[in-house]
Amino acid sequence: MPATALDTAFQKCLNSACGATFGVDEVLTACPQCGDLLDLNYDWDRLPVPRSLRDFEAKWSNRRDPLDYSGVWRFRQLFPFAEDRQIVTIGEGQTILQQSDSVAGYVGMDTGRLHLQYEGLNPSGSFKDNGMTAASTHARMVNARTAACASTGNTSASLAIYASTTRLFRVVVFIGSGKIAFGKLSQALDYDARTIQIEGDFDDALARVQEVARERGIYLCNSVNPFRLEGQKSIMFRVLEALAWEPPDWIVVPGGNLGNSSAFGKAFAELKQLGLITRIPRLAVINAAGANTLHQLVNGHGVRWNGGTPDTARIDAFFDKMDADNHRASTLASAIEINRPVNLRKCLRALEVCDGVVREVSDQEILDAKAQVGAGGFGCEPASAASVAGAKKLRAEGVIAPSDRVVCILTGHQLKDPDATVAYHSADREMFDKKLGSRGVKSAAYANSPVVVPNQLEAILAALEA
Ligand code: F0G
Repeated sequence: MPATALDTAFQKCLNSACGATFGVDEVLTACPQCGDLLDLNYDWDRLPVPRSLRDFEAKWSNRRDPLDYSGVWRFRQLFPFAEDRQIVTIGEGQTILQQSDSVAGYVGMDTGRLHLQYEGLNPSGSFKDNGMTAASTHARMVNARTAACASTGNTSASLAIYASTTRLFRVVVFIGSGKIAFGKLSQALDYDARTIQIEGDFDDALARVQEVARERGIYLCNSVNPFRLEGQKSIMFRVLEALAWEPPDWIVVPGGNLGNSSAFGKAFAELKQLGLITRIPRLAVINAAGANTLHQLVNGHGVRWNGGTPDTARIDAFFDKMDADNHRASTLASAIEINRPVNLRKCLRALEVCDGVVREVSDQEILDAKAQVGAGGFGCEPASAASVAGAKKLRAEGVIAPSDRVVCILTGHQLKDPDATVAYHSADREMFDKKLGSRGVKSAAYANSPVVVPNQLEAILAALEA
């Protein structure tokens, strides 16, 4: 009899000193024995692993099968934790890698060397759908009745769309008061998710939703859910696919709760282990300066994965001081306004696997980069542009060479947060100062301000000539 997912996939504690394992039919968001994060592992020797990544191209001829059509599940042999009949898909992952020469120029790269991976093209408008399809699948496997998440907005939009389209479970989303961009809030409300606004920020909301989930046996869909991160590996598979399976030199990604960076590192480690790639790209994780825990720990305190034994005392002392100072995250890139990234340890592992680097960028750098992405591509929300701003910084430092092949992940759609965009381009200085100036943004070098004219033909024609 062929092996089933139940025999060959299992959850395993990230802490090698513990190493406890659990079945995929268990609902866990931390190791019950030591409290560390959990990972999905597979008994690859008993599974039909493709001999070459090119084998996935055959799936394109089978586009009527919803699982092969999905940009996530057509790679399901690389995260085989579910039976096909259990999989929940809404056609996610139809995203593209776009060469952008104008953004390459802005970053300081040679023509043809910079690519933007547009995850905003997902059904809910962000990369989260890659993970939520996997978490929803697991929720269905374990017959979850209610699912929940805390969110800066995109996770909640994604979870809500999976619930509204499939009607498999009810959804409760927790958001920080006044901390969510309207595009994202409108999605959760429109998709009929029960929405709880907590007086606090994302870090508070995440702590509370974990308590609530424990208390009420609710299925948790934040990225402490190891199944979610399995789906997010597919972003890297699609990048490789678009580059004819040739790994780029760099993957540059914004860092918030550090789920993506963790998933990317795991994807590359597994592809190498399976002999499907020979070279792993370098990873650059970019924090917003106002939410820069990873940057501080890695570059300020020298914290490393260290073969599985990071300096836990130093990390704990960092968070203790953060609490003592009541230091809160603060950035216009609200999606990554996070000071307590839950996947910190997995991200440290990814940095080791991918010989990675971490940088921080200011809100000014983020908004300038965002305007350049908009002018030379499909546009993105502020947090996403941290990747481009980070690539520019690494290029200026000489860490990235002009001839390197670089892929910046654009994590969310431009329309998620139109406020910041309109304020940046506005000619109205008062509005600019109120929305952006108060957050340290001084200028808008790439503003494309609307021209205000009287309702008169001559004046309009004159404005066209100007
Ligand atoms: N970019 C966008 C647009 C996001 O929404 C997020 C996270 C990130 C980047 C950071 O990704 O957590 O994998 O490092 N948003 C979460 C949310 C926290 O609730 O929507 P990460």
